[in-house]
Amino acid sequence: MITEAAVLDALKGVRDPELRQSIVDLHMVRGVAVKGDRVRVDVALTVAGCPLHEQIRADVVREVGRLEGVRAVDVTLSVMDEAERKAAFRAAFGRSEATPSPVAPRPAAGAAADRGKERAIPVLTLDPATPPLMRPNTATKLIGVASGKGGVGKSTVAANLAVAMARTGRRVGLMDIDVYGFSQGRILGAKGQPEVTPDQKVVPWRVHGIQLVSMGMFVPEDQAIIWRGPMLGKMMQQFFTDVAWDDLDYLFLDLPPGTGDLALDVGQKLPHAKLVLVTTPQPVAMHVATRTANVAQKLEQQVVGVIENMSYLRCPHGERMDVFGRGGGEMLARALGVPLLGQIPLEPALREAADTGRPIVVRDPDSESARAFLAIAERLLDVV
Ligand SMILES: Nc1ncnc2c1ncn2[C@@H]1O[C@H](COP(=O)(O)OP(=O)(O)O)[C@@H](O)[C@H]1O
Ligand SMILES: [Mg+2]
Repeated sequence: MITEAAVLDALKGVRDPELRQSIVDLHMVRGVAVKGDRVRVDVALTVAGCPLHEQIRADVVREVGRLEGVRAVDVTLSVMDEAERKAAFRAAFGRSEATPSPVAPRPAAGAAADRGKERAIPVLTLDPATPPLMRPNTATKLIGVASGKGGVGKSTVAANLAVAMARTGRRVGLMDIDVYGFSQGRILGAKGQPEVTPDQKVVPWRVHGIQLVSMGMFVPEDQAIIWRGPMLGKMMQQFFTDVAWDDLDYLFLDLPPGTGDLALDVGQKLPHAKLVLVTTPQPVAMHVATRTANVAQKLEQQVVGVIENMSYLRCPHGERMDVFGRGGGEMLARALGVPLLGQIPLEPALREAADTGRPIVVRDPDSESARAFLAIAERLLDVV
């Protein structure tokens, strides 16, 4: 089966010939629709009369046509308006103008755009209501922190990684969508009713240099909530649509553990999110984590690395004690063909820090665990 995600992946290989960036990064891909063996791609040109539009069209047809099972590729062309163009350049270049290479006078693109429209086929498209952050071509990189089961330190790792990443100068958000065990408010020391903007959007908590949204903004952590089917998906969608996120380079998601309904729902809605898997060192834990990885792969989510938590206890004389066995992280990484991004020691101070709302990377950045988090954050920048 041809998926939108696979098409988008193929489109990353198409560059705007002038701007020399992928048309995906330039937000030029406005829609992808798959119907049977036909694929339609809507491309918005950055300038009217882009003289190279025929080349872009041909490149799209070539790259998408390579995907197995694709028989026909329809390309429709349109043109960005001023605001869209500025936003696209900001996302791709960090400023609102690009300096295109000198080019010959530009013929009108209207004819090409019209022709494209006529050939358009009535098919599924990206729902226009899909919030920008959930679109596969969003400029924000989504990093899901997942685990096979609860209690392995997934939330602690997500919080510390998000804060560590912010310390490298990136704009970072954390979305706590582990609705069964939302704990980020406590771990990061955020509390109080959230503010609401005049257009009724929730303002994320700002803590330790990151933006945070959690179920804990709306209900106390100890309150039981019974989640039924569609409520879960809706709740997550609201965290994307009804939150006034400021510009984000990276958005971490504290995912529900395991392979339950919500985990599946998140995976289906966010196929472009990259996952890191948190596991403990015992080989048994590895099997549980593998299940999560298998589901992610079925949903076409890419697992980019493994983090082993509670790896060892550093004894007073410096030696390492393998409290929970050893090798689980390494084995899992090898089985998945991804890097082991790092090992976090078992540290009482880490737990205390999490319990008091000051994560270890803030409270004691020189500790062994904090240094591990900082190193993992750097590595993540490379693999995501
Ligand atoms: N490396 C570690 N050293 C010591 N305590 C840890 C470590 N990682 C997590 N913890 C503690 O273990 C408990 C479970 O961690 P948590 O992040 O809530 O797990 P999960 O989100 O996977 O359920 C928390 O009390 C947390 O402070
Ligand atoms: Mg948790």
